[in-house]
Amino acid sequence: MKILGIETSCDECAASLIAIHDLRLAILSNVVSSQIDIHKKYGGIVPEVAARQHVQTMIPVIQEALDLSQKPSIESRVLKPDLIAVTQGPGLITSLQVGLQTAKTLSYVWGVPLVGVNHLEAHLWSFLLNQENKETKKQENKFPAIGLIVSGGHTELVLVKKVGKYKSIGRTRDDAVGEAFDKVAKLLGLGFPGGPIISHYAKNGDSEKINFPRPMIESDDFDFSFSGIKTAVKYHLQNMISTGLLSQRMINDICASFQKAVVDVLVSKTIRAVRQYKAKSVILGGGVSANECLIEDLRLKTKDLGVEFYYPSKEFTQDNAAMVALVGYFKQKNASKKNWQKLTAEPNLKLID
Ligand code: KG4
Ligand code: ZN
Repeated sequence: MKILGIETSCDECAASLIAIHDLRLAILSNVVSSQIDIHKKYGGIVPEVAARQHVQTMIPVIQEALDLSQKPSIESRVLKPDLIAVTQGPGLITSLQVGLQTAKTLSYVWGVPLVGVNHLEAHLWSFLLNQENKETKKQENKFPAIGLIVSGGHTELVLVKKVGKYKSIGRTRDDAVGEAFDKVAKLLGLGFPGGPIISHYAKNGDSEKINFPRPMIESDDFDFSFSGIKTAVKYHLQNMISTGLLSQRMINDICASFQKAVVDVLVSKTIRAVRQYKAKSVILGGGVSANECLIEDLRLKTKDLGVEFYYPSKEFTQDNAAMVALVGYFKQKNASKKNWQKLTAEPNLKLID
């Protein structure tokens, strides 16, 4: 079965062809056109600009994904897929619309069934795209699992009972964790997106130097709050500037201490959820899952508890369409050739069972 995935929930325009045969997965192509260089100058994503750019790049990106999938041999030519999977939400409504309307059009002209995919669910299962995991079976021993989905728009803790069966147990009450990285990088004048830049400077900094707050770390729910840490960084920075103490070394220390505060909260709540729900594994996904400090801490703590830890390799942490195609495969029974007209973009789509 060959599945075309389409992803336009935010600023990445992506298309991918995957093939699943005998429960074995092959990624035939995975094309991502990033708009980072366009949004950089604004210090964040501008929705209207993102959508206009998607309109221009969507068809060339799909064309490239189809072309690349034909490379290995002429016999494996994908003239049209068996299924189209498209991100339905959550995300920016205008960006989502471009991918969704394109997917509907292709479904109509090709006569191929179409299925809508939740972007957060796609991030959750992105680790299955890793080289070592390309078997879509043998998942029973993972459940129940605790899923930690961390991106520029979301911070969610999810109880995963099995594929497609989820209970949201915690979420951020203000900024998403990736958003906090982006805002702190902006405060420090380091550029956009903030996550990779902050983790880069943090490597040369002392994470114990500044004791930034760990908001809600002791609260007896699984919710998060990150705006307080960001404000603490702001005041610390103002203080350093007014006393003339700001140096590159101090910026490194701020980055390392901020990153440590964020990771401490994320890991502490995740591990508490593992204990409370007697989970057998932790699944990490989303753009912030590229953070090595977060991966390392989760690796250590899950090892101590004797539970498995799954996370995507770097290439699958950011928004991509291979993860959308994979979840489309899981949801194929929901696919339709006829009722796809009813499929609408859902900017606030929830991850529930
Ligand atoms: O999942 P994603 O590509 O897009 C959304 O769905 O939001 O995530 C993008 C977010 C950005 O906020 C970016 O700063 C963050 O992921 N990010 C990181 C790292 N790499 C990307 N955050 C922390 N550490 C990183 N290494
Ligand atoms: Zn994402």
